Amino acid sequence: MKKKVAIIFGGCSSEYSVSLVSATSVIKNINKDKYDVIMIGITQDGNFYLYDGEVDKIEQNEWLNDNTCKKITISTNRSDHGIIVLETNEIIKLDIVFPVLHGQNGEDGRLQGLLELVDIKYVGCDMFSSALCMDKYLAHELVSSSGILSPISYLFTKYDTLEKIESKVSHLKYPLFVKPLKAGSSFGITKISSVTELKVAIEEALKYDDKIIIEENIDGFEVGCAILGNKNLVIGEVDEIELEDGFFDYYEKYNLKTSKIHLPARISKEERNKIKEIALEIYKILGCSGFARVDMFYTKDKKIVFNEVNTIPGCTSHSRYPSMLREIGMTFEEVIDRLIELGEER
Ligand SMILES: Nc1ncnc2c1ncn2[C@@H]1O[C@H](COP(=O)(O)OP(=O)(O)O)[C@@H](O)[C@H]1O
Ligand SMILES: [Mg+2]
Repeated sequence: MKKKVAIIFGGCSSEYSVSLVSATSVIKNINKDKYDVIMIGITQDGNFYLYDGEVDKIEQNEWLNDNTCKKITISTNRSDHGIIVLETNEIIKLDIVFPVLHGQNGEDGRLQGLLELVDIKYVGCDMFSSALCMDKYLAHELVSSSGILSPISYLFTKYDTLEKIESKVSHLKYPLFVKPLKAGSSFGITKISSVTELKVAIEEALKYDDKIIIEENIDGFEVGCAILGNKNLVIGEVDEIELEDGFFDYYEKYNLKTSKIHLPARISKEERNKIKEIALEIYKILGCSGFARVDMFYTKDKKIVFNEVNTIPGCTSHSRYPSMLREIGMTFEEVIDRLIELGEER
């Protein structure tokens, strides 16, 4: 019998639209001979629907208008192992859930915690690891306590005064990065070149989270590593982001107008191996399982500095994560298949 895989898309997150694109690609590339796909959409206000319409309507954000949509809820009864269609009370059992969600409420451990509570298996990092990786400050603290370089950063809350923040970061050299503590796709991030820009940058970051971090700029380029596995880890080829100026903001991430992704990164094999080694260490320190993309900076003096771990990285067939694994011979379909197996094994 085919396994029932629920692919969840959308989400109550600023990265709702990014998820629609990733999920469409996962649904199109999953092995349909092996899996029965159940599509579950979460609206931006957080309502769950079972969806049975055309896959393309997901990417176009027209899925919710489709007459196949039925409001559902995840059953909190462990014996149900599934979802309940609210209109009919029908219970649909699930073998595994693949949350193709990015950012808050999807990638940050909340959904993972709910699935653990109700004993439904799922793809990707567990609740604790997801939450830890989403918290840019704690992730830095933990990784740097193991001797891996991380940018100097300070944590603030919406209750901290501008004066306090200014004085705390006054010894740092500009430019600085002001970021929401938990977000993705560069939402709410500003690179500032002087103290006069601090106030506006803080306000922007606070739109996405009640906590923010301010960190030093790392001079160099960003590199990423795709990691797949629970115990025996597979690592993809290292990629490199070449920026013309500024930083890898939302527009550049999804349009690549002035920036470029080089795969493999334009550095020696030895240097790439060193980066892979550190990425594997970071993956283990932060307790990752299933998959994650570990992002680091590579500086001019060949230092590897941790940036962040994305526990549900962009997942279209041309996204960085599957591309890095394609370089070592895995197709996107094989990656999806392996992710589901890893979720079941855990
Ligand atoms: N400390 C830093 N030094 C240099 N560039 C940075 C730094 N932090 C972030 N950036 C730039 O900003 C981008 C987004 O920051 P990141 O922390 O990765 O947030 P997100 O989770 O939104 O991807 C990075 O891809 C990089 O280009
Ligand atoms: Mg990033």
